[in-house]
Amino acid sequence: MKTWPVMSPFSVSENVSRMQSSATMAAMQAADNLRAAGADVCDFGAGEPDFDTPDNIKQAAERAMRAGRTKYTANAGIRELQRAIIDFYRREFGAEYQPNEVMATAGGKQAIFNAVVTLLNPGDEALVAKPYWVTFPEIAVFTGAKPVFIETEETDFILSAEQVERAITPRTKLLILNSPCNPSGRVLPPAEFRKIMELTSDHGIYVVSDECYLRFVYPPGEVFSAASLPSELRSRLCIAGSFSKTYAMTGWRVGYALAPADWTKAMLKVQGHSTSNTNSIAQWAAVEALTGPQESVGVMLAEYTRRRAWLLNALREIPGIKCGEPEGAFYAFPDVRGCLRKDLKTSADFAQRLLEEEHTVVTDGAGFGAEGFVRISYATSMEQIQEGVARIKRFVEKHI
Ligand SMILES: Cc1ncc(COP(=O)(O)O)c(C=O)c1O
Repeated sequence: MKTWPVMSPFSVSENVSRMQSSATMAAMQAADNLRAAGADVCDFGAGEPDFDTPDNIKQAAERAMRAGRTKYTANAGIRELQRAIIDFYRREFGAEYQPNEVMATAGGKQAIFNAVVTLLNPGDEALVAKPYWVTFPEIAVFTGAKPVFIETEETDFILSAEQVERAITPRTKLLILNSPCNPSGRVLPPAEFRKIMELTSDHGIYVVSDECYLRFVYPPGEVFSAASLPSELRSRLCIAGSFSKTYAMTGWRVGYALAPADWTKAMLKVQGHSTSNTNSIAQWAAVEALTGPQESVGVMLAEYTRRRAWLLNALREIPGIKCGEPEGAFYAFPDVRGCLRKDLKTSADFAQRLLEEEHTVVTDGAGFGAEGFVRISYATSMEQIQEGVARIKRFVEKHI
């Protein structure tokens, strides 16, 4: 009997058809499939803390629910949350923001989305340093603009003002910064950050500074926010922040944007016609996160510090693997090109075969624009890290 191909009636817009699916989500899916098949998986793919949300934050959410704070809020979020964010930036970075320059968003991701889509037009260029978080170029592509990538391997993945300057054209409208960086873990030194902001300011280029890993910095890195720069360098700046990583709140979906009033107004228009406001209960939880006890942040940071030290030492002992110094976030980003051979040509092959042969998940660097590297998340227990590194070592020794 003749069978007909099933045609989907669904038509994808041109903007969406240009976008790539997320490489990090693909790695998560691969790990889930293996687990479902009963395998003992070591998972270095996680882009989220393995800690639970601190109890005081959960209790605040419970109180908010019981008090009936379960209705729509203003698009920009509840006043208490705006105030808590403004106070945090004043206290920590000496920055003065007004309520019309702050909006709560559904995660840092929505802040970045709002900021990029309100700015870019088809034909504009958006500068994105490699390696980049997978979402940056895709949002630019969604608007019809062109992501222009900046190579940074020569400076060990620390973006320099000189590299930015070389990439600027008359069409450059936006630069996206991300420090601490996912996936490299590198932290931009404050002096270089400032030089980059001076350069973009001279050229009238807008900047989105993704500071979702702001608080996770290890010496010699320094916690630095673009908010601490003089206000004349911030007139075209949008800071995207998040509660996801700092307070282990990835599922709650709370973040924020800090930007000049006219940019914020445009972002509120977009958000007002899409998600309206972020979840009201999660907003109250976020107020507690910022204004309540901060011990949990220190506890998480201390544990990441311990894991990071162990992991970096152990990775550097594996032949063929070179690992730079990630001063922030919770990722190591080793160069595995020294392990590549005839049957293992790319970092994608490395990640795939490691998964098949050792049931160990790492994320291929190519998805972040850095072929030859893999991302290893240490947002997992020390036991998992030790077991996973032993598997990577066995795998490398077998193939090298
Ligand atoms: C660099 C970077 N920016 C932004 C985000 C968005 O996080 P969220 O939307 O959960 O705040 C992530 C999440 O992985 C990230 O790695």
